[in-house]
Amino acid sequence: MTSHIKLFNPGPVEVRREILDAQSEWMIGHRGKAFEALYARIQTGLRQVFGTASRVFVSTSSGSGLWEAAARNCVSDDPARGVLALVCGDFSERWADVFARNGKAVTIQEVARGQANTADSVAAALRARTVPYDAIAVVHNETSTGVRNPLAEIVGAIRAHATETLILVDAVSSLAGDKIDVDGLGLDVTLTSSQKCFGLPPGLAFAAVSDRALARAATIPNRGYYFDFLELEAFGTKNNTPSTPAISLMRALDRQLADMLAEGLEQRYARHAALAQMTREWAKEMGFELFAAPGFESQTVTVVKNTRKVDVAALNTSLAAHGLSIADGYGGLKGRTFRIAHMADTTVADMRELLAAMTEHLNHG
Ligand SMILES: Cc1ncc(COP(=O)(O)O)c(C=O)c1O
Repeated sequence: MTSHIKLFNPGPVEVRREILDAQSEWMIGHRGKAFEALYARIQTGLRQVFGTASRVFVSTSSGSGLWEAAARNCVSDDPARGVLALVCGDFSERWADVFARNGKAVTIQEVARGQANTADSVAAALRARTVPYDAIAVVHNETSTGVRNPLAEIVGAIRAHATETLILVDAVSSLAGDKIDVDGLGLDVTLTSSQKCFGLPPGLAFAAVSDRALARAATIPNRGYYFDFLELEAFGTKNNTPSTPAISLMRALDRQLADMLAEGLEQRYARHAALAQMTREWAKEMGFELFAAPGFESQTVTVVKNTRKVDVAALNTSLAAHGLSIADGYGGLKGRTFRIAHMADTTVADMRELLAAMTEHLNHG
């Protein structure tokens, strides 16, 4: 038994030793030149990874903090406007709840678990609307079901019917592993967490925010303080943050951005796609089915329907002996599914090692 368990969980993921080590440098103050240089480097790298010429805010929080930011900055308190939340699993459902808990009027459009939200139903909802929604929220990659939503089609439907509605995208478990053309699609807020495809420890979250979203924020009075986009922008333009940031994590990010760009973003997406393909083929060969509807399978996490009624806890105990781990199904899907993440810096060799250990357990365990 080894104390290092390699995580094939959909966050936190395995973090490379070099990235962990980057956090152990001597501390610096966040109001000095060294920090400004660090922030500026990170900003340049993040813009490349997000595919945006706009700012990318760095938040010392997990992704849920930026869910709250999107709610508070982009949706007014006018009950006639509100937000249309597309729900296809537990995370999109929770984001819808975050809007409601911030006092926003929420309309939910939901599909069955395993299905993707569709452009047609979004178009129909928008056609039926006289007052435009302030925003539409969509989760690109629903980590609980392994469904990848058809983002470009949904965005096309929104833009055909509602030009002033902001498009808010949760790309928590996909960004940096699956291509999202933030500026090309004209997304207004695209948010993600550090502990998924970025291959970092948890504790940071990033959001690409458009000028339109900033302009909207300026019209909304009660944005709070910690996640106020205008506050973040005022400091961001000076390569700084309003409050004390997680400097050690930002150093890890600095190192990881350099490594990601050295790998090449297209190569990174291709690697994720190849790992996803391997995992899906393995699942089918082993007599399982995939939970996601055909054609909507995630590139970063495969949710396997537990058709063989495997004891997932026993499987993980056996994997732990090899220094490996996967995730059980999420929420109501616990036991009915299990989840294999292929995110961040996972290699083909890592994946082969995991799949071989799983095969051994399933055949002989
Ligand atoms: C799709 C999705 N959105 C949001 C979250 C919440 O992010 P965080 O745990 O970083 O707050 C998660 C977490 O797993 C997620 O998978």
